[in-house]
Amino acid sequence: MRKQIVAGNWKMNTNIAEGISLALELRELENKFNDNIEVVVIPPFTHISEISNVLSDTDIKIGAQNCASEEKGAYTGEISAEMIASLEAKYVTIGHSERRAYYGETNSILNKKVKLAIKNNLTPIYCCGEKLEEREAKNHFDVVKTQISEGLFDLDNKDFSKIVIAYEPVWAIGTGVTASPEQAQEIHEFIRNIITEKYGKEIAENISILYGGSVKPSNANEIFGKTDVDGGLIGGAALKSNDFMGIINAF
Ligand code: PGA
Repeated sequence: MRKQIVAGNWKMNTNIAEGISLALELRELENKFNDNIEVVVIPPFTHISEISNVLSDTDIKIGAQNCASEEKGAYTGEISAEMIASLEAKYVTIGHSERRAYYGETNSILNKKVKLAIKNNLTPIYCCGEKLEEREAKNHFDVVKTQISEGLFDLDNKDFSKIVIAYEPVWAIGTGVTASPEQAQEIHEFIRNIITEKYGKEIAENISILYGGSVKPSNANEIFGKTDVDGGLIGGAALKSNDFMGIINAF
C-alpha cells in the first residue's frame, strides 16, 4: 500500500516567531489528525532546526523546499542536501514550478538535485505540472512526461522507488482555481502509466502521487477520493493550522 501524504509548503512566509507559533498550533492539533496520513511541514530553511525541535515529540515530518545541485564547496548562498539531512529533515521538494519559472531550474539541474537528495537519505518530492497555455494547447501530457522522464528516469529501480511525485498544474497554484477531480485523476493515472512502462507495475503502484494547486478543506475530499491521488502538496492553506488539519482529515 502506498503512503498517503499531506505536505504543507510554507514557501517564503513567516518569520521565525510566526513559524514557531504555527508549528506549536500543529503540535496541539496533532491528536486530531487522521492517523493514516503522513503529515509533512516544509518551512523555510532558516526555521527547520527550531521547528524540528518543536515537533520532535510528534509524528509530523519536516521537509525543505529546495536543495543545491552540487554536493558542497564554493557555491555561496546554496544549501546542500547533506546540510538539510543533518537537521532531521526527511523530505525535500525539488522542481517546484516557482523554482522552474523564477530560478531557471531545468530538468537536468533537478535530476542532479534528486540524486543528491537520495544519496543523503532525503525523500524527494519531485514536482511537475503544465502552464495554462500548455494545457490550452493540449500539451499537458507531453510536458509532464518530459519533466518526469528527464528528471527521474535515469534512476535505478531502487532509487526510483524512493521518490514522491507532486503534480501541480501551474494555473492552479495560488490562483484559487483547482483542477477538477477528474482532471487530477486523468493526469495522475497517466503518470502512473508512464512509470509502469518504465519501472513495472509493482513500483508504479507503490509511488505516492500528490496533487497540488489551491487545495482547501472544502475541495480536498473530492480530489483525494480519486484512485491515483495519494494526497496533496499544500501552499496557502498550510499557513493556517485549522485549514491544514481540515485537509489532512479530508481523506
Ligand atoms: P497553493 O500552492 O496551495 O497555494 O495553490 C501549492 C503549491 O505551490 O505547492
